[in-house]
Order: sequence, then structure tokens, then C-alpha cells
Amino acid sequence: MSTSAPKLKVMILGGPNLGRLGLREPDIYGRMTWEELEVRCRSWGEEFNLEIDFVQDDGEGALVGLIHRASDQTDGLILNAAAYTHTSVAIRDAVAAVDIPVIEIHLTNPTAREEFRQTNLLAGVVNAGVFGFGINGYRLAIEGMAGLLS
Ligand code: DQA
Repeated sequence: MSTSAPKLKVMILGGPNLGRLGLREPDIYGRMTWEELEVRCRSWGEEFNLEIDFVQDDGEGALVGLIHRASDQTDGLILNAAAYTHTSVAIRDAVAAVDIPVIEIHLTNPTAREEFRQTNLLAGVVNAGVFGFGINGYRLAIEGMAGLLS
């Protein structure tokens, strides 16, 4: 891909407890930290000429504000809303209101896990989803986003 084309900007947004990646239940979520994932995502973004705005917050209201920021300031959103995926009408409504493409991502496949993770309030308002590929799912989501934006 030509590097002279203007860079589009994509927000990668993480919800509650993702800042603890690497320490948090490593048998489920792996040993890579959120900070290490940021480095990987920035480099994967470079491959697709995308500038990455990499952010994480544990709070529902803060995440709603960050989704508004993505809508106002970026071209696409890759969202791991973590536990709020299963509970938050506020985050669903924020996602439904944006007019940029949104890709939902989960490190694990929530559908193959506990009963309470079977509810997904975001599935009906996102453009696409990437589940169960671990860290590599972020590369797939970045590539998918580049395709949606091309
Ligand atoms: C998760 C799956 C959610 O069910 C869970 O609450 C998380 C992480 C994932 O990336 O696999 O915090 O979003």
C-alpha cells in the first residue's frame, strides 16, 4: 500500500480490566500486556497506513465519551467493551449513534464461555466482529478495518 496516501485514523478502545492484560487470568487472556499490545497494534496499523489512537478505560461513562471522540475525530473504531458488552445499554446506544465503521473484538470467544457472556448488546449495532483469536485478533481487526475504509 502506498505510504503517500493520507493516513486514516482508527481508535482501538479497551473496556474494563483490559489494562490488566498480562496479569489478569493469563491462562484465559494470555501474557501480553496492554502496553505491549499497543506497540503491536501501532505497527500493524503502519502496515495498512492507519494511525492508531489506542485507549483504555474501566468506566462505562468514560467509554461512552471515548466512543463520541472516536466518532468526532477518527475514521473507524475497534472496540473491546469487555464485560460491558454483556450489560451496557449506554455503550450500545453510543455505538448505534456513530456513523463510522465499528468492529467489535474479543480476545476469547464469549459465546463458548459462561452463560452470562451469551448476552451481547453490541452485536446488533456493529459492522463486524472478531472473536477468539487472542492477540492476533487485533491484527485481523486492523486489516478488516482497512478493508472497510478502502
Ligand atoms: C473479553 C470477553 C468478555 O466477556 C470479558 O468480560 C472481558 C474480555 C475478551 O476480550 O475476551 O473482559 O472482552
